[in-house]
Amino acid sequence: MKAVLVRQFGPVDEARLEELPSLVPGKGEVVVNLHAAEVNFPDILVMEGNYQKKPPLPFSPGKAGAGVVSAVGEGVTRLSVEDRVAVQVEYGAYAEQLCTSAVDCFKMPAAMPFDVAAALGLVYQTAHFALLERARMQPGDRVLVLGASGGVGSAAVQLAKALGAGTVIGGVKGERNAELARAAGCVETIDLEMDNLRDGLRDAIRLATDGHGVDVVIDPVGGQVTDAALRAMAWSGRLVVIGFAAGSIPTIKANYLLVKNIAVTGLQWSDYRERFPEWVERVQLEIFDLWSTGRLAPQVSDSMPLAHFADALNRLKTGSAHGKIILVP
Ligand SMILES: NC(=O)c1ccc[n+]([C@@H]2O[C@H](COP(=O)([O-])OP(=O)(O)OC[C@H]3O[C@@H](n4cnc5c(N)ncnc54)[C@H](OP(=O)(O)O)[C@@H]3O)[C@@H](O)[C@H]2O)c1
Repeated sequence: MKAVLVRQFGPVDEARLEELPSLVPGKGEVVVNLHAAEVNFPDILVMEGNYQKKPPLPFSPGKAGAGVVSAVGEGVTRLSVEDRVAVQVEYGAYAEQLCTSAVDCFKMPAAMPFDVAAALGLVYQTAHFALLERARMQPGDRVLVLGASGGVGSAAVQLAKALGAGTVIGGVKGERNAELARAAGCVETIDLEMDNLRDGLRDAIRLATDGHGVDVVIDPVGGQVTDAALRAMAWSGRLVVIGFAAGSIPTIKANYLLVKNIAVTGLQWSDYRERFPEWVERVQLEIFDLWSTGRLAPQVSDSMPLAHFADALNRLKTGSAHGKIILVP
C-alpha cells in the first residue's frame, strides 16, 4: 500500500509517497482501506515537528479519514469487514490503509459519501467540544467565531447555529473569506484586518449585538485578535483558546476577566479522544445525525489525489484554501 511518509521533521514538501507492506490488525485493531483523508492545519505542525505531540519517526500524517474496514483483529466485536467507517487518529490517515484501535472508528450513515465523512472529523469534533463542553454555550447566546472561514471556524459557525446559538458573527480576513463565513451561516462578518482592531472589533460587536457583546468566543486564531475579542465580550462571557493560526500566542490580561466575570478556557480535543472515547463516539454520531437531517454541510472545496498532499498543505499554510480539502488515496 502507498502512504505519505515523514522520515525527518521539516517542511511538508520533504515528505514522500512511499510503497509500504500491507497492514495486519493486532488485538483490538482494525485495518481500514481509506477512500478519503481530511487535510488539517495541525498536520503541517506535526510534519514540521512543531506540534505538542511528536509521532515516532517515520510516520504518516493525517488525523481523520473515511473508508472501508478490510480486516478485523482478535477481540473486535463492534466492527466487521466491509463496514463503512470514519476514523479519528493522532496520525496515519495520509495513506491507502490505516491500522488503528476499533474505538477510533465510527460507522457512517449509509447515504454519507466518504469525503463528507472525512470532512466531518477533527474540525467538527473540536468545534462541538469547544461550544458545548468548554464554552457551555446556551440557547440564544451571541457567538463570535474567529477565523470563521477556516476549518475549525466554519465548523463552529455551522454547529453553533445547529445547536441553538442566537446571533453567530464571523471574524475573518478579507471579503473572500467573509463570503465563505456567510455561506457557513454567519449573519454578520467583521474584517479582522481593520485599522485599530482593539477598539474597532468591540464597536462592531456592540453594533451587531445591540450593545450586549458576545457571550462566547471561539478562537483558533490567537495573536492580537484574542486581546481585541476579549474586550468585545459580554458580562460572564466564555472564550475558548483553540489554536494560533495567526502565528503568535496571545497574553491574556487578567483585568478583563475580573471586570466582566469572563472565563478563558483551553481545548486540546485529542485528549478527549484518548481519555473518553465513548464521549467522542457519542459526539460523532450526533454530528452525523445533524448532517443526515440537513443541519450541517461541510464545505468541501477540493478533492485531490493523495500524491498532491504537499500542494494541499501549502494551500492551507498560505491561506489560499477556500473550504475543506480532501485527499483521495
Ligand atoms: N485545540 C485543538 O484541539 C485543535 C484542533 C484542531 C485545530 N487546532 C488549531 O486551530 C488552528 C486553526 O486550525 P484550522 O484547521 O481551522 O486552520 P485553517 O483552516 O487554516 O483556518 C485558520 C483561519 O484563521 C484565519 N487567520 C489566520 N491568520 C489570521 C489573522 N492574523 N487574523 C485573522 N484571521 C486569521 C485564516 O484565514 P486565511 O485562510 O485567510 O489565512 C483561516 O480562516 C490551528 O492553530 C490548529 O493547529 C486546534
